[in-house]
Amino acid sequence: MAGYGVAILGHGYPQLVKAISDQARKVITAHGSVYSEARERFLEAFMKISPQKLEHIYLCNSGAEAVEAALKFARKFTRRKLFIAFSGSYHGKTFGALSVTANERYREPFHPLIEPVFFGEYGNAEALEKLPFDQAAAAIVEPVQGEAGVRIPSLKFMKELEERCKKSGCVLIIDEIQTGLGRTGKMWAHQHFDLKPDMVTVAKGLGGGVPMGATIVSDDIAKIIQPGDQSTTFGGNPLACAAGAVVASTLAETNLVQNASVVGEELKTQLSRFSSYRIFKESRAMGLMAALELRIRFNPLLMEALKKGLLTLYSGRNTIRMLPPLVVNSKHVETAISILHSVFEDIDRSRTDVVGYTN
Ligand SMILES: Cc1ncc(COP(=O)(O)O)c(C=O)c1O
Repeated sequence: MAGYGVAILGHGYPQLVKAISDQARKVITAHGSVYSEARERFLEAFMKISPQKLEHIYLCNSGAEAVEAALKFARKFTRRKLFIAFSGSYHGKTFGALSVTANERYREPFHPLIEPVFFGEYGNAEALEKLPFDQAAAAIVEPVQGEAGVRIPSLKFMKELEERCKKSGCVLIIDEIQTGLGRTGKMWAHQHFDLKPDMVTVAKGLGGGVPMGATIVSDDIAKIIQPGDQSTTFGGNPLACAAGAVVASTLAETNLVQNASVVGEELKTQLSRFSSYRIFKESRAMGLMAALELRIRFNPLLMEALKKGLLTLYSGRNTIRMLPPLVVNSKHVETAISILHSVFEDIDRSRTDVVGYTN
């Protein structure tokens, strides 16, 4: 699970370790108002992998912060207040990010949240027409929903969403915090849908494990952002930037993204073979982002796999999620799959409470 999808280069990647320790010897902190050589190196490296036409970047420390900035920029740019988000969404737990996150369990204790927010049905292209795009500052969407259990929307849904945003002057924010940086087999998951977003949020693997987030914005939007509109003491921190420069240049110069695609296909094929188990419901995968939906709660499976040396994640109550580092190879997949088979066999045999099984 690579630390919830963070350690995309794995743990102890030599160049990353060296860059962080070299930087720590020089200077660890430099506020965004002063020049930093590490920040310049990061920006140069990142621009080589930045989504098309998004050449301005706001640096912060986490995914939720990147989403906060995106929502603020969209309000200032459009002078509209309303946001559109989708069922199943997860964008973080600060007030703005939580306001566009669908899960009522996370929202309920903290009302009132930021308003107004309209939630559409994720993946339902027809239902988009009911949403008030012409009054919306922004629509925010994950190109593949992670927390909801690796939900992959149709091309039709994503294209229609983009078109409605463009037509109505609503800013399209693609949240690539979990899906970006090669995770799905392309540098950015929105490239699978050939989208041209106005803003992209990124975090998780950006600093290779050092906390770092970013909001990448179009030229038009960048023009209306003034110094002081949005800032944070640690944003663009030299240590994070030194690490981020290694991550960005490694993704640009090696075949890791392609590796995520090739090894991801192997993982996907292997997972589809779990369909003979009674406790299996469905598998879903895109690159190295994969899920096994079960007919039982995930807990025993996750714990038994852990005992056998395989650390997985979960989504909701019934889904096992996998977000391995992009450096995994076929052998790692084989090992993981064989552990999963042995755990599935044990649990499948012992469970008498499997519901909804019709085979
Ligand atoms: C798609 C998405 N957006 C936003 C976030 C929030 O990021 P953070 O936990 O760094 O605040 C996450 C975290 O899992 C995420 O997956």
